[in-house]
Amino acid sequence: MIRKLTLSALAVAALLTAGAARAQEAEAHIPDVPFSFDGPFGTYDQHQLQRGLQVYTEVCSTCHGLELVAFRTLGDRGGPNLPEDQVKAYAAAFSVNDLTSNPEYVEPATGNARKLVPSDHFPANNAMGAPDLSVMAKARAAFHGPYKLGINQLIHGIGGPQYIVALLTGFTGETKDLAGTTVYENKIFPGGWIRMPNTALSDGQVTFADGAPNDVKHEAEDVAAFLMWAAEPHMDARKQTGFVSVFLLIILTSLLYLTNKRIWAGVKGKKKQA
Ligand code: HEC
Repeated sequence: MIRKLTLSALAVAALLTAGAARAQEAEAHIPDVPFSFDGPFGTYDQHQLQRGLQVYTEVCSTCHGLELVAFRTLGDRGGPNLPEDQVKAYAAAFSVNDLTSNPEYVEPATGNARKLVPSDHFPANNAMGAPDLSVMAKARAAFHGPYKLGINQLIHGIGGPQYIVALLTGFTGETKDLAGTTVYENKIFPGGWIRMPNTALSDGQVTFADGAPNDVKHEAEDVAAFLMWAAEPHMDARKQTGFVSVFLLIILTSLLYLTNKRIWAGVKGKKKQA
């Protein structure tokens, strides 16, 4: 019996040590980036989302689609909150790079792309084999913090946007040829070599109208925040509803407690007398 117990204790200790080691590894890989939407009360920063939209439009959309996101949602409160006329102008100016993946956007008469409208979705883009970014921020959520306690994710965020920032700033500059395809060394990408070029995002590539810093780290943070919004557009509303519900539940619990005390007051009082 004692031998069995000792063995189990040893096994648990070994598992815990392995877990701690992996946690350290994960921490070293994906540095935490504080975002305005972290934590139970965090909300999106509208200006950051607008800058991120600009980075996506000018840089990432060349290779990546965003086909689950409709242009009209750019006008949503709690999102980039663009005025209606800007949403219209933005959709109309958006160029469809990959017509094969977006047959519904082809003008039959000319064979060219038709003008996009707010009810359209961002086009898909499979021309370079790059994955769609619509839900990427949530799809890669588990890369940061999963080995820690859940409470850590509640406070520091789910880790998807942090992964995107780390990925975009994780290139070493090394390249190699892999079966006819150039691959680029990246400290963050599993396997260490990615097909996304290390020049995909660089310092000063995008100039922001609000004069915000545009080194590669800030550009990456802005686009990561935008992609988080794309993956979870109603986060602000969800957190607000959660807060109100918890608040109401606390009031209800207090009322029930007081009512309960009152109902049983006579009985409990009698017991004491006896
Ligand atoms: C020149 C084309 C190109 C540009 C520009 C580009 N990417 Fe990529 N990206 C790729 C390709 C190709 C892949 C697939 C890489 C692979 O699987 O090896 C990829 C993969 C990714 C991934 C997924 C990595 C994973 O974990 O699977 C993310 C996230 C990403 N890109 C984000 C971005 C963002 C954000 C931008 C804009 C700042 C951007 N990319 C710009 C080509 C590009």
